[in-house]
Amino acid sequence: MARPAVLVARAVFPETVQRLARHFEVEANPADRIYDRAELIEHLRGKAGALTTASERIDAELLDAHPQLRVVANMAVGYNNIDLAACSARGVLVTNTPDVLTETTADFGFALMLAAARRLSESERFLRSGAWNRWAYDLFSGTDVHDATLGILGMGRIGQAIARRGALGFGMKVIYHNRSRLDPALEAPLGARWVDKAALLRESDHLVLVLPYAPASHHAIGAAELATMKPTATLTNVARGGIVDDAALAAALRARRIAAAALDVFEGEPQVHPALLGLANVVLTPHIASASVATRRAMAELAADNLIAALGGGRPPTPLNPEVLARSARASGA
Ligand code: GLV
Repeated sequence: MARPAVLVARAVFPETVQRLARHFEVEANPADRIYDRAELIEHLRGKAGALTTASERIDAELLDAHPQLRVVANMAVGYNNIDLAACSARGVLVTNTPDVLTETTADFGFALMLAAARRLSESERFLRSGAWNRWAYDLFSGTDVHDATLGILGMGRIGQAIARRGALGFGMKVIYHNRSRLDPALEAPLGARWVDKAALLRESDHLVLVLPYAPASHHAIGAAELATMKPTATLTNVARGGIVDDAALAAALRARRIAAAALDVFEGEPQVHPALLGLANVVLTPHIASASVATRRAMAELAADNLIAALGGGRPPTPLNPEVLARSARASGA
């Protein structure tokens, strides 16, 4: 029987591609060309599976062009690039890569928060420019992180991992806002307290965004929200672009309505709002929160595990729409 064909839409570790090639006819993309819409549709011709990343948009139109596509394995925990309902309606299984990136992403979120609070990149740029010529009592003085109030918007796995770092490592008081409250057994060791969004904005010294992007979270932080934050506060986003209104944030940073921000994700990335690029009090990184070598390997391998299991008729480890599996098991009489 012919082996299923799969597309690995972006460059990934050669070992992962080699592993997939033991199971499938693989079309890889070692040159890491980013396919535009027409190219992606073209490259998916005849493919039963695809290993995708946040840069590939999978929607109804694309699915309708490819009724043979059965599995989309996204190498990311976020999946706002994929129309999950459209996939489910067409029996296409979608998987993501949760858990393996939680601690690494939390490390980076915490690092960004520290960098914003203590003006790390701003002061390094100053030194490298040759402008440093003396000690001064107020040279790049920032805000403390230890013992401060850490606010988390989106208290999922990554939010909780950031809260652990803050509470247990830095003595921070943790408040959070989430659609649902955590189990008290999870709150207790962190001393974490659920608050409404208005209180979170008002009380946080350092606010970290870790919620998934969805139409409901579009511009969850805009001018109105920024206006209610402390003027000494920092804002860190390791979630998705579009959760923050970048133009409004740039205006707030310029006017010092908040002290500083740190962003790993942007509206319309890899484009970055030009007003942010011109500001000293924002740390900007290119969507690398999960980018430790070990974690990126684990993400690629988990995406491959999902493809291999799903196309081999097994149960993939991390399905997003497992009802599709149940349906196909029923259809095959399994
Ligand atoms: C990265 O942004 C991810 O969603 O894994």
